[in-house]
Amino acid sequence: MNSTEGHRTADQIRAKKILFEDILNSSPDLIIARDRELKTLICNRAFAENIGKLPEQLMGKTDLPESNDGSQEAGLHADRQDELEVLGGKPIHRIVDLSDHATNSRVFDVFKVPLRSDEGTVIGILSSARDISELFELRKTLSKREQELRELAAHLYEVRENERKRIAGDIHDDLGQRLTAMSLGLHWAASGISDNPAVLNKHLDDLLEMNRRTLQAVQDIATRLRPRILDDMGLKAALEWLVSSINRHGGPVFAIEFEVDDSLLDQAITTTLFRMAEECVSNVLRHSNARQAVLKVQEEGDSILYTVEDDGIGIDQASLENSRSFGLLGMRERALLLGGSFEIARRNAAGTKVRISIPRSGRARPDHA
Ligand SMILES: Nc1ncnc2c1ncn2[C@@H]1O[C@H](COP(=O)(O)OP(=O)(O)OP(=O)(O)O)[C@@H](O)[C@H]1O
Ligand SMILES: [Mg+2]
Repeated sequence: MNSTEGHRTADQIRAKKILFEDILNSSPDLIIARDRELKTLICNRAFAENIGKLPEQLMGKTDLPESNDGSQEAGLHADRQDELEVLGGKPIHRIVDLSDHATNSRVFDVFKVPLRSDEGTVIGILSSARDISELFELRKTLSKREQELRELAAHLYEVRENERKRIAGDIHDDLGQRLTAMSLGLHWAASGISDNPAVLNKHLDDLLEMNRRTLQAVQDIATRLRPRILDDMGLKAALEWLVSSINRHGGPVFAIEFEVDDSLLDQAITTTLFRMAEECVSNVLRHSNARQAVLKVQEEGDSILYTVEDDGIGIDQASLENSRSFGLLGMRERALLLGGSFEIARRNAAGTKVRISIPRSGRARPDHA
């Protein structure tokens, strides 16, 4: 090899080394290679920066220093038991959680593999660690949501059973008794026990009254299940009907501001908004201590904006943070199911504000379907 060829080869080797280092340093993963004595052969910038050093400061060192902030990222790579196994030829994969409770997650996906010579001899350890904290946080959020939904489903199941029990009781005790009484009365009239027309007329009047009350009881049960006014007259009339009985009986005064043509509303939106109104009204009555509350239904672009504001004591922080409060959770889920959003907050003035937005199309987003 003449001197020109020698220079060219040296240049090529240098260029390859630079390229290799550039590739290594471009990786966001924390990469380090160590020999059998655990001396650092090479590490990338991400690894060195993570413990507050420059890569060249770590070359040839055996002890991986602690990071500046005292965390133990160096320990991701330096673990005696792992080192022995990897040097024995066994690759290792671990999820290492360095989170402490005071801070957010610090979780790493760590691979340690034997570094082999061309002949296949293990000459050291190559380790790389990827920060998967964000992914981990996301997984935590998802499993929390999953748990909430499971509990909501169980709660709804219980609510449905209780509702069935109550309706069965109403039908059996109320309707059953009335029908039995009417049946006895009819038998008596048919048996011809009295031929006095005045007595018979009085008896028939009583039966008619009993019949009227029975029909009323049937209507009450049906209305509690689903008010017909919602299907016959629309959401506005149903909301007015809902608050009118409360306004008659004292307590907070409910006002309705309805600025939407409800004949154009999708059936799913109509039902959802009505059920949410029932829950909001019940919350205002039970928890707010308010004097006034306003239910507003408005247009907001392509969505229906539905708000309920009261001037009461305001929802407390614990309830805002409690993801297991089923009334609020149920409303949020119903809104999400229709591709909308649900928010509840304390008002600046006083009281609580619920804000629900639902797209007119009322279609579920694929991630919430
Ligand atoms: N308008 C409001 N004013 C004050 N506090 C409220 C209001 N709405 C809700 N809260 C608070 O939020 C909590 C959670 O409400 P949520 O509707 O989820 O449950 P709940 O009404 O207690 O029970 P459920 O609705 O399951 O019968 C309530 O217990 C209450 O403390
Ligand atoms: Mg409630």
